[in-house]
Amino acid sequence: ETTRLWGGRFSDGPSEALTKLSASVHFDWRLAPYDIAGSRAHARVLHKAGLLADDELARMLEGLDRLEADVAAGTFTATVADEDVHTALERGLLERLGPDLGGKLRAGRSRNDQIATLGRMYLRDHGRAIGSLLADLQEALVGQAEANLDVAMPGRTHLQHAQPVLLAHHLLAHVQAFARDADRLRDWDRRADVSAYGSGALAGSSLGLDPESVARDLGFSASAGNSIDGTASRDFAAEFAFVTAMLGVNLSRLAEEIIIWNTKEFSFVDLHDAYSTGSSIMPQKKNPDIAELARGKSGRLIGNLTGLMATLKALPLAYNRDLQEDKEPVFDSIDTLEVLLPAFTGMVATLRFRRERMEELAPAGFSLATDIAEWLVKQGTPFRIAHEVAGACVKYCEPRGLELWDLTDAQLAEISPELTPEVRGVLTVLGSIRSRDGRGGTAPVRVAEQLAELRDDLKVQ
Ligand code: ARG
Repeated sequence: ETTRLWGGRFSDGPSEALTKLSASVHFDWRLAPYDIAGSRAHARVLHKAGLLADDELARMLEGLDRLEADVAAGTFTATVADEDVHTALERGLLERLGPDLGGKLRAGRSRNDQIATLGRMYLRDHGRAIGSLLADLQEALVGQAEANLDVAMPGRTHLQHAQPVLLAHHLLAHVQAFARDADRLRDWDRRADVSAYGSGALAGSSLGLDPESVARDLGFSASAGNSIDGTASRDFAAEFAFVTAMLGVNLSRLAEEIIIWNTKEFSFVDLHDAYSTGSSIMPQKKNPDIAELARGKSGRLIGNLTGLMATLKALPLAYNRDLQEDKEPVFDSIDTLEVLLPAFTGMVATLRFRRERMEELAPAGFSLATDIAEWLVKQGTPFRIAHEVAGACVKYCEPRGLELWDLTDAQLAEISPELTPEVRGVLTVLGSIRSRDGRGGTAPVRVAEQLAELRDDLKVQ
């Protein structure tokens, strides 16, 4: 027995093939609590408009409470014949209140304004949940930066040794990106903070319902300014898919580094046993599966975004059934991040950095050559020449198996008369790092300042 929400003008019921195609209840059932909250708000606004008597409202709310409890207990469930969550819950209400009262709730609302509102409610709740899981990750990275404040490492460009940096500076670079992801989530929420209730199917309602009071009732600060846009727009979903995909991409960049750092060749980090996996055949293996899954799942998050964008492209206004396809991609992005982030945070929080190894490699690959050039600039040499001279030092050292700091006074003078022995003062990792002391630089004072800023940022979230 089904309670289709349409049928008056049909002589035949839907074919089995159509029913199967049309059904969304297997994925939109998770919206049931939001649908019921929407129904309560709608019942109140019908009452306000004089379309439900006091006792009818009381019985309606009581029926919705019972329905909600039965849904939560699993004693009321949707069947395959229920097209979607809205139909299933209306059946539940009719079963509890009878058709005379139960049948009054649909006045002045459509599944089109319902789904557009519930989608926003669900995404806003989970956007906040993801924001808080993300804050845990930021916290873990800031904690690692703090615990390794004076550790130097090779900074890279093109994956080649470039200049030494503080490990904390490198870790905080990732925190900066995650802080922007968190900010994007908050900013997105501000735009999604609009209820579509009152838009009806597309044109609004003739029943004198107050969309603003429903909006407030459901935790929105505003109702839609245009009923066509309210029911037909899905940029709130697409933008959510972008914000979560961007977060996935940022996760994948840190993930890739952890994978590289964890190779025998790098040996920069040890993964905690609880956050790594073994091999079914090679007993010695300890694999960075969490980082690899983060890298892999970022592809899936991007797919959810592009799939949804493709669905929306060129859709005429107002509602089209294509829009039913908006839910699975964003639900999948939510489910993906809600399991990925806690595992990723655990992996980061328990990473052990191999300080000696990182510091041994920090000056390798002639990563102090820029320091020679900048020292010469401070002595008045034009940078073009200074760059040439520092390059000549590398050219001198490389075939002889020397490091820059091995050069004797005579060898320095032979390379260029401007290279006095004092240049050796900048040829240390710490000297190099300390010297980059403008705002945003890797000098310890600046990294400490940055750490404090990022901590403050985490407090206001
Ligand atoms: N399940 C539908 C969706 O997700 C709800 C809206 C249905 N509206 C309609 N006119 N058939 O989009």
